[in-house]
Amino acid sequence: MPANKSVLVLPGDGIGPEVMEQVQRVMGWFEAKEAVSFAVDEELVGGACYDAHGVSITDETMDKAMNLDAVLFGAVGGPIWDDVPREHRPEAGLLRLRKDLDLFANLRPAIVMDAMVDASTLKPEVVKGLDIMILRELTSGVYFGEPRGEQTLEDGTTRVVDTQSYTEDEIVRVLRVGFELARKRNNKLHSAEKSNVMETGAYWRKIAGRVAAEEYPDVEFEHILADNCAMQLLRDPHQFDVIVTDNLFGDILSDEAAMMTGSLGMLPSASLGAEDPVTGARRAMYEPVHGSAPDISGQGKANPLAMLLSFAMMLRYSFDLGTEADMVEKAAQNVLNEGYRTGDIMQDGCTQVTTEEMGTKLLQELDRLSA
Ligand code: IPM
Ligand code: MN
Repeated sequence: MPANKSVLVLPGDGIGPEVMEQVQRVMGWFEAKEAVSFAVDEELVGGACYDAHGVSITDETMDKAMNLDAVLFGAVGGPIWDDVPREHRPEAGLLRLRKDLDLFANLRPAIVMDAMVDASTLKPEVVKGLDIMILRELTSGVYFGEPRGEQTLEDGTTRVVDTQSYTEDEIVRVLRVGFELARKRNNKLHSAEKSNVMETGAYWRKIAGRVAAEEYPDVEFEHILADNCAMQLLRDPHQFDVIVTDNLFGDILSDEAAMMTGSLGMLPSASLGAEDPVTGARRAMYEPVHGSAPDISGQGKANPLAMLLSFAMMLRYSFDLGTEADMVEKAAQNVLNEGYRTGDIMQDGCTQVTTEEMGTKLLQELDRLSA
C-alpha cells in the first residue's frame, strides 16, 4: 500500500460538512481496499471556527495546512456571520489559506457528462461533450491588492478603494501553468483580460503574448477580452480548451462555466502552488466551486459530487493516483447514468436521492468497479 498521504480536512460551514462526510466515506473505502492509506487531520474553518475560537482559521490549523500533503476544503460562510468584522469573516479563512500557501493556480474544470446534458440550461447541442478548464489566478489581483477600504476625503466625504495589481512574475507563472495544461489537453489557450480598459489588462496581455511567443510557440494561443469571453462561453463553449485569467474574472467566468454543466454542485477545483524544484511536490488545496448553501444545509439535499470530484483531483494532482482518480470519476458518472440525482440536478424520470444516499450509491459503484 502506498505510504500514508497526510490530508487536512476542513469541512467548514453550511453544506460543507455534509458533502465532506460522503468523501470521508469514500476515503474509508479506499483504505478498506488497502489501495491508499490516508492520515486525516480534521479542523474547523470559517464561521464554525469563528464561533469556537473568534477567528476564521487558527494559526495551528494554518501550520498543519503548510505541512501536510494536501488540504481538502468544504465551504465557508452564511448569513449568520454577516455582521462579523471583515478580517474575521468566514471567507477570510479561505483567503488566508490561498494566500499563505501561495496557491496561485486554481484549476476549475467544467465537464458536461453525457447524463447531465439535459440538466444544463443551455441547449444540448451547445454543451454536449464539453470539457474545458478555467485557470484562475488565485493569490493576487483585486482580492489582495493594497490599498483597500474606505478613505475620508478632505471635504469630509468618503470614497472606497480596491486595488487591482499584478506583478510580471505573477502573470508569468500562472500563464506557464496554463500552457502546460493546454499541452496535456487540446493544446489551445485563451488569456482573458480587459486590456481595452485596464492598465493591468494591457500589461497582462503584453506579458501573456511574450510568454506565448518565447516559450510556447507550439500551443495555439489567443487573447480575448473577458466580457467577450463570457459571451463566447454561452455562444459556443467548444471553441475553448483552457482559459487563463485573473482572480476576479476567474471567479466570475468559472461560475458561468460551472452552470453550463447543469449545477454548481458538480464543479470541483484544485488550487496549486509552485512545484518544489527538488522533490516536485507542491502545496495544494481541493475544494468544490460551490459555496456553503445555507438555504439547504442540514436537510440532506446537498450534492456531494463537486466535493467528491475535488477529492479525485487530489488523488490525481497531489498523489499521482491517476487510476484511483479515474475510478472515482467513473463511479460518479455511472451513478448519474443510472439516474440518481440530488435535488439540484433532478430531472424527469430520474430518482431523487439525499446527500447520504448519493454517497451510498457511489460506494456501491466503487465496489462494482473494483470487483
Ligand atoms: C470561490 C468563492 C470565493 C471567491 C469566496 C467564498 C471568497 O466565490 O471560490 O469562487 O470569491 O473566491
Ligand atoms: Mn466564486
